[in-house]
Amino acid sequence: MDSFPSEFADLLNKRGQRLIADPPRLDVFRTKRATPIVVFDDLIDDRVARRCIELLDRAMYPVIRRMETPIPREWIASMKKNYSDSLRKTVRVKTATLNSRKSQALDAARGIGLAQMMRSESFHEFAEAVVGKPVERGTGGRQVICYEQGDYSGPHNDHHPESPGSRNGFVDLHIMFSNDAVRSQQLVYEERGFLSASHDVNGRSGIAVYRLPFWHYTTPLVGRAGREAEARRWLLLGSFDFDPPPEKPMW
Ligand SMILES: [Fe+2]
Repeated sequence: MDSFPSEFADLLNKRGQRLIADPPRLDVFRTKRATPIVVFDDLIDDRVARRCIELLDRAMYPVIRRMETPIPREWIASMKKNYSDSLRKTVRVKTATLNSRKSQALDAARGIGLAQMMRSESFHEFAEAVVGKPVERGTGGRQVICYEQGDYSGPHNDHHPESPGSRNGFVDLHIMFSNDAVRSQQLVYEERGFLSASHDVNGRSGIAVYRLPFWHYTTPLVGRAGREAEARRWLLLGSFDFDPPPEKPMW
């Protein structure tokens, strides 16, 4: 494999391909009581995932850029009342979006077939099979993110009230790969008003499908002792609006 397959389905093992052919009708996307997210740990074979990591290390690592929003000291210094603390989204990762036509990152992603795979019919079909509703073709956002030692995304909800296509709900599809030097990282998300649900995302590969918005964050990535500098978790992120967009909030 010298590049990503042109169809996302060809990255998946038999279980993953079966999921597209025979959608699972998952309860979490059908009831308002549950948080609409599912994380699959076993849909990409280890050998394939290792090859994806090699491709991303070679082609994408040189073009991703640090994105950091630290916590400003003033958020404490400017507080006037006890217990009035509030935290906006804070983050530290490396990333590149594939949305601008002339970006170096998009060229790099095209060179290894990644951009094409993230526009493929089966990439959309996978999202639809999981959430149980049609999504828009060709217009979704694409982003590559890399978490290294200590990198994280703080609590946020991904609500876009100003965007007509996504303000009442949209879908994120995350394809994740961790190398051998990663010891731990967790995705934490709200469940009935508490940030009490979590899922390990440090496996060799994982696929998460979210129907946003809801509150979530990732804990800082922790590398194995002595191998912290090598630890990387890659995240390929596709975002899709529903087709048609829902008229009322889906949550
Ligand atoms: Fe998010």
